[in-house]
Amino acid sequence: MNQRIEKALNEQINKEASSSQYYLSMASWAETQGLSGTAVFMYAHSDEERFHMLKLIKFVNERGGKAIVPKIEQPPSDFESVQRMFELLLAHELTVTHSINEVVDVCLNEKDYTTHNFMQWYVSEQMEEEALARSILDKLKLIGEQKGGMYLFDREMQEITAAGAKNNDGVA
Ligand code: FEO
Repeated sequence: MNQRIEKALNEQINKEASSSQYYLSMASWAETQGLSGTAVFMYAHSDEERFHMLKLIKFVNERGGKAIVPKIEQPPSDFESVQRMFELLLAHELTVTHSINEVVDVCLNEKDYTTHNFMQWYVSEQMEEEALARSILDKLKLIGEQKGGMYLFDREMQEITAAGAKNNDGVA
């Protein structure tokens, strides 16, 4: 495997692992706030990021490279509010999108069209994740400080997660 590609993919493995850990911390925080639906959503989101990492590890190794399992920094464990948490999530996803675009750029420069093709899955995944985070933030802005609204929001987060799991049934 081309060394620049291998390095870029290993950096992306690190980012996906960090995302998984970050969202795991958000899940745990939400759980301690009594927001069980939001916690279910974040736990599932953390699992998805782990899957993104695994998919990259397997690709690197299958293509003759060597995937490196990274050391992960401790993420923040407290969040001011649910809205703030989702603002951080969106900001984080935007940095991930940026790094995916950089990997795509390296693929084009190195004329590695196989990896370029593989990375397209991540490009669409990022579009979906950003759109979902924005729609959740829109809901939270509408709710504002209303307690009843928050109760319904939390329930809806559980429903979104269940619907997502159903749609992904059997898809690795
Ligand atoms: Fe795998 Fe949400 O970046």
